[in-house]
Amino acid sequence: MATSALLKNLTIVDHPLVLHKLTLMRDKHTPSAVFRQLLREISLLLAYEVSRDLPMTTQTIETPVAEMEAPILKGKKLVIVSILRAGNGLLEGMLDLMPSARVGHIGIYRNPETLQPVEYYMKVPADIAERRVIVVDPMLATGNSVAAAITRLKEKGAKDIRLVCLLSAPEGIKRFSEEHPDVQIYTAAVDSHLNSHGYIVPGLGDAGDRMFGTK
Ligand code: URA
Repeated sequence: MATSALLKNLTIVDHPLVLHKLTLMRDKHTPSAVFRQLLREISLLLAYEVSRDLPMTTQTIETPVAEMEAPILKGKKLVIVSILRAGNGLLEGMLDLMPSARVGHIGIYRNPETLQPVEYYMKVPADIAERRVIVVDPMLATGNSVAAAITRLKEKGAKDIRLVCLLSAPEGIKRFSEEHPDVQIYTAAVDSHLNSHGYIVPGLGDAGDRMFGTK
């Protein structure tokens, strides 16, 4: 794990397994089924990193050999919020590692002309203010949609928020961090730039289309 020297709210999860799997995902010849499987595998590794500082306590247990004070999670309440639709590709792996987390969904898409976010669905736990919120969206491109989604979560009371993205563009990181400097970003890689259509270069194309074979 590397924390960017440029931005203290950016954590780059550049583990060899993550980077290898990401390369396979970027390849345009990789079929949807393999793409989805790789995203799920990477999401486990990202989940490991984003949960690194969960609060711990200890509990007295008996092993077959002796009694011990053993470390255990302190019971921090979690919610994973998926930004539809591509966020769902990261959700399952996150839930594999954090099975008792609640799940929220935000439906938001980019207007292809203006690249501005349009919200069409939102359902999150009522007690989101008391939970650590992990927002998942594979692509941090312009940053407009995810910044808007997190503004909505804050309006609902969310305070302790982290963002997990597979791939990021420098423009998106900058834009997002200006609006939400309190939100730590976890990403596997920061690519070169955005093209005129708002796609990350070199990127991997449209994550939703690659996952669901809709193009
Ligand atoms: N969303 C995607 O799915 N891909 C990009 O490159 C940018 C935004």
